[in-house]
Order: sequence, then C-alpha cells, then structure tokens
Amino acid sequence: MNSDRLGFNHCCVNGLILPPFVTEERLRNLATFQTKPGDVFVVSYPKTGTIWLTQIIKALAKPALPEGIDVVQIGVDTVPFFELNETKKLEAYPSPRYIYTHLPYSLMPDDSENNLKYIYLARNPKDVAVSYFYFMQALKLYSLEGTWDIFLEYFMNGNLPYGSYYTHLLDWLQKKEQKNLLFLKYEDLHKDFLGNINKIADFLGCALSEEEAQIISQKCSFSHMKANPISNMDSIANQMYKKGSNYSFMRKGTVGDWQNYFSDKQLEEFNQVCDRYMEGTGIDFEFILE
Ligand code: A3P
Repeated sequence: MNSDRLGFNHCCVNGLILPPFVTEERLRNLATFQTKPGDVFVVSYPKTGTIWLTQIIKALAKPALPEGIDVVQIGVDTVPFFELNETKKLEAYPSPRYIYTHLPYSLMPDDSENNLKYIYLARNPKDVAVSYFYFMQALKLYSLEGTWDIFLEYFMNGNLPYGSYYTHLLDWLQKKEQKNLLFLKYEDLHKDFLGNINKIADFLGCALSEEEAQIISQKCSFSHMKANPISNMDSIANQMYKKGSNYSFMRKGTVGDWQNYFSDKQLEEFNQVCDRYMEGTGIDFEFILE
C-alpha cells in the first residue's frame, strides 16, 4: 500500500512510517545523542505496556529530572521519550539516565561496545493491534480516519507509526542473547508481577527488599496507575485527545481483549501473518491467560 494514502498523519523516513514529530531532522539529531555507559533504554513497540514498565523503573531506580524542570508536561518526565526530545534536553538528565523509545535498533545511537542497557517489552500482537487502534483514534496528533477493519489491514501490512510490529520485534531480538538486553513480555508481568519486578531490579542493579517489591507491585497495579494523575495522563488529556474522546491511557490493561474485535476471517489472516514472522524465533505469545 502506498504510504502517502494512509489515513493518518505521519512522517516517512527511508520507507519507515513514523509519528509526525519524528522527522528526518529529529532522527539525525538523535543519532548524535552522547550516550554514557550505564544509560538504560526502555524499548518497545507502541501499546505493549511501555508506561507500565517505565512506572516500575521509576519506582525502582527513582530517576531524577534535570535541575529546574517541572514534571507533567508532554515530553518532560523522569523517564523521557527519546524521539520527542532534542538531544540537548536529554543530555541534561543526571546519570544513570533512563529513556524510553519505540525506535528500531538500526536507528539507535551507536553501542558497538555494549555499554548501554536495554529492556525490551513485547506483548501479544492481537492485543497490541486493538490497543493501538483506540490510541490512534483518540489522539489529535494522528487524525486517524478509518474503522477497525481498515486499521487492522494497516497493522498486518506494517503500515503504522514505527512500521511492522513483527519487524520491530525481530530486529531487537537479534540482541536477545546479549547480557545488556533484558527481554520481557507484558503477559508475564500479568502472570508474575513480583517475579518480574525482581528481575528488572537485578538487571538494573537496584537493591530490593521483599517489602519494597510488594509496595512497587501495588503502586504499579492497573487500578493504582489509572487513579494516578501522572501515569493516567489525564492532566494533559485536553492537549492530547480529540474533543469528546473518553480515551484513557489506562484503557483496559488486560490480556485477551482482542477477542471482542476480530472476526473469524480477520483472525485467520492475522494468524497466518503472525505465524509467518514468528516461526523459528522461539517466541511464544500468550493470547489469553488461564
Ligand atoms: P490497553 O489499551 O489494552 O488497555 P503503552 O504504555 O505502550 O502505550 O501501552 C498501553 C497499554 O498498556 C494499554 O493497554 C494500557 O492499559 C496497558 N497498561 C498500562 N499500565 C498498565 C498496568 N499497570 N497493568 C496492566 N496494563 C497496563
């Protein structure tokens, strides 16, 4: 499909579809980001639970803001969004810096010496598609036109901001066996939240008592985050979402919501695409939890 005819605002850089603010110039600027050993990148395709993971990291590592900057503005956070910021702003954060990104590995700053840490979060693609549909439909930024049926075609063809979910995942999976990448799955966070909090703490080198882990699991629960004005982003809802939208960043937070949206025909096609990409990768998605 010709990306010029996609029904949403976007940029396209070297064939990769990106959000409108991720211009070629921004990418050039980000490629010059001066990394420091110990920087941590939280990496994900959109709607895989990124904010959930950043919330856990905030609770564990307590990253700080640069001096003189207020929190709760778009793009200003203790775990900033890489693509939304100029490198000068990001470089002002105190080390170790925690930054989240949806970029493919090929567009990241050089790390040939493996000095950086990455936490990659994956989620089953059916729930990602539904979550992405609601998100793009709500955002002023994208002005998405089209129904679920059209959106799902975009998803299956990789015609969405940050490209194909599968290509993104496979690109990062190349680094899976390296010690500086921790690979996590959204469904595993659901199944064993405490175990995964401990895994993240170990990876980041954060000491954590059992009691602290319990407190973090409560603070980062869906209900707690939905009620928390920083994580639910309600304070910036008017700036972000279309008028009349009742979208919430903390939408459902479940595994298996896709069952309410896919027709039998869509499911058959989707499974074929998913199987084609995932065959031989050793990655199993859980589409429902028992
Ligand atoms: P749904 O739209 O399926 O509800 P991202 O942060 O990458 O944009 O991902 C958003 C998805 O993560 C949303 O999924 C959101 O509800 C879910 N999410 C956020 N915080 C969560 C939490 N504490 N527990 C479970 N899911 C959470």
